[in-house]
Amino acid sequence: MRLSRRVAAVAVAFGTMFATVACSSSEEPGEGSKKVEVFTWWADGGEKAGLDGLVGVFKTDCAGFEFLNGAVAGGAGSNAKQVLASRLQQNDPPDTFQAHAGAELSDYINDDQLEDLSAQYTEWGLTNAFPKGLIDNLTVDGKIYSVPANIHRANVLWSNKTVLAKAGITKDATTLDGFFADLDKLKASGVAAPLALGKDWTQQMLFEALLISKLGPEKFNGLWNGTTSWTGADITDAITTYKRLLTYTNKDRDTFDWTDAEKLLMDGKAAYQLMGDWEAADLDAKGFKDYGWSVFPGNGNTFQWLADSFVLPKGAKNADGTKCWLKTVGSATGQAAFNQKKGSIPARTDVGTDGFPAYQQAAMADWKTATQVPSCPHGSACAQTWQGAVGSAQGKFSSDGDVAALQKALASAAAEFGPKK
Ligand code: GAL
Repeated sequence: MRLSRRVAAVAVAFGTMFATVACSSSEEPGEGSKKVEVFTWWADGGEKAGLDGLVGVFKTDCAGFEFLNGAVAGGAGSNAKQVLASRLQQNDPPDTFQAHAGAELSDYINDDQLEDLSAQYTEWGLTNAFPKGLIDNLTVDGKIYSVPANIHRANVLWSNKTVLAKAGITKDATTLDGFFADLDKLKASGVAAPLALGKDWTQQMLFEALLISKLGPEKFNGLWNGTTSWTGADITDAITTYKRLLTYTNKDRDTFDWTDAEKLLMDGKAAYQLMGDWEAADLDAKGFKDYGWSVFPGNGNTFQWLADSFVLPKGAKNADGTKCWLKTVGSATGQAAFNQKKGSIPARTDVGTDGFPAYQQAAMADWKTATQVPSCPHGSACAQTWQGAVGSAQGKFSSDGDVAALQKALASAAAEFGPKK
């Protein structure tokens, strides 16, 4: 697959490696073009399967337009977000891009990079289609700037059933103590690194799941809205426990994307992986059937949520085509086709469970009754500057294990990038 000159230059400038950019120079969208360039990081596996589902509906509902795949591979947008930032800075936006509901979306709104979609919400009947809490996360100063495609759950522990059975584990742990006991059983059964882990943002996810267990949902929420201090003894205790948890993970974690860690689980070299529920779709897409799931031990009925949404950037070349894409994203048919393959659940409240795999049916039921908390690495809790500072602090901790230094870095990041008192 060829890279366009523009995207190749950006990749070189950032020194990043990315595997897929499906926009080749002969496909460049231009004025009057029918092409709608959709920029995501959904390049492979279950993520691509979800995108393909949505594209299928777009092809039918928006037959006058053509989908142009602008995906840049790399979990959680680790490469895509840099490419996007550079394009926005050069006034060269894609026709639409993926942005997380919450603080991350507010970054783009505050930088005046997005068009207001309030009129489309009225025209397409979207205003009452989504839960009010989600609408609040998409709205700034009474205007709404994106269309949500889904709700993902971040705090899920995936497992390899055969590896668990060999170690004599027959029930999911519901407490951290129980989890450590199971990890010890797995080590005793010969699994050297039972908890598969990847780099920075995946470490953020594991640490957040642990924080939810240690602090409970209300205090966890307070870390992001400024009511819980990062300097307390409870955070020191959580970091110390996290350090212990790292001793059960693979040592090469800092070089791994989430799919590399997932492979350890599929190959039976690990028993568990904490990951968002895009993993259900990816395991399905890869034909791996021997997996189980549970909420992270100690998280109770807390649902750590995030939502992918799509926007109309200012200066998009094909605003009409983008509006048709956004209408598809927000439609009940589009949400069913997308979420059945993506591991997430519809953001709309009126899509039935028919056609959804067992995992999503369970998640749809949980979503209705669970206590909701947001995620920092997936933008619902914090802005990209804050995400970056936490990610690098955790990357450093992964090699030096310095508890006091990590706590200090987390507290400084909150003071610099968090809500001002
Ligand atoms: C998240 C995104 C998900 C999934 C995941 C892994 O940030 O919201 O849809 O793509 O990254 O790449």
